Amino acid sequence: MAKTAGFEDKLLSGRKLSKLMKEEIKVMVDQLIEDGKDRPHLAAILVGDDGASETYVNHKVKMCADVGFESTLVRLPAECSEAELLERIDELNRDETVDGFIVQLPLPKHIDVEKVTQAIDHRKDVDGFHPVNIGRMTQGMPAYLPATPFGIVQMLDRYNVETSGKECVVLGRSNIVGTPMAVLLSRSRKVGNCTVTLCHSRTKDVEAHIRRADILVVALGLPEFVRGDMVKEGVVVVDVGITRIKDPSKKSGFRLLGDVHFQEVAPKASMITPVPGGVGPMTVVSLLMNTLKASQKEIYQ
Ligand code: GUN
Repeated sequence: MAKTAGFEDKLLSGRKLSKLMKEEIKVMVDQLIEDGKDRPHLAAILVGDDGASETYVNHKVKMCADVGFESTLVRLPAECSEAELLERIDELNRDETVDGFIVQLPLPKHIDVEKVTQAIDHRKDVDGFHPVNIGRMTQGMPAYLPATPFGIVQMLDRYNVETSGKECVVLGRSNIVGTPMAVLLSRSRKVGNCTVTLCHSRTKDVEAHIRRADILVVALGLPEFVRGDMVKEGVVVVDVGITRIKDPSKKSGFRLLGDVHFQEVAPKASMITPVPGGVGPMTVVSLLMNTLKASQKEIYQ
């Protein structure tokens, strides 16, 4: 039996919502083509052969095809030098046929992620990782929003989750999820106006914070860290964690676990994202939306 069985009415289903939003994007692309415009074009650079990254990038490429985007996948070997990668980034920066591109993370240890992020032209930075986009987002200016937090915001919006005045607790302060999530939920926007607490490895008594949360966003990478006895009745739970656990009974050889113990937490939650099928698919839709915006020069002229 699926682990979500019995909780269908509480699910924040990224799988369902992303399908709907992809159809909406496809309609917009069809209109562009009818108007004689070019197809939006996303490129991705994948360095090395990490299994999870490979899966994610292939999925992004497939989603592009589904909505009618062009896509280009640039593969580089794990031993490629930082200079080589920077050269490829420069080529994509200058390639006028490419609207936006991403460099899939994590990168091999010998490559400086900050240097790579900053080498991407911020006008093509559809991952929203460049300091210019992060700075603009923080000030409420038009910017490419990082895909995962953007996907979560869209999910809360479409499911009509009230955020204004709520106590929101974010677990994890990464540059790509926790920190931008905290910024977005505290902004003065329809999805926003939360009182945000950002917890991290030095937080004292993290459980006391979790227990106060009306909205809990968990992005730690610690499988089933949040247990049923830690959360308040009625909490809205967004689980960003996705860890591969070896499982010989599965065809793939692994199963996926979130940072939240679903079976224990779902009975107390008013709404909850499953893993898989929650935040993950929304992340890809956000990337498509950013690419569509890039092709229409919506953020930068
Ligand atoms: N690795 C994990 N999440 C992401 C993401 O959103 N973008 C990129 N480029 N790499 C990732």
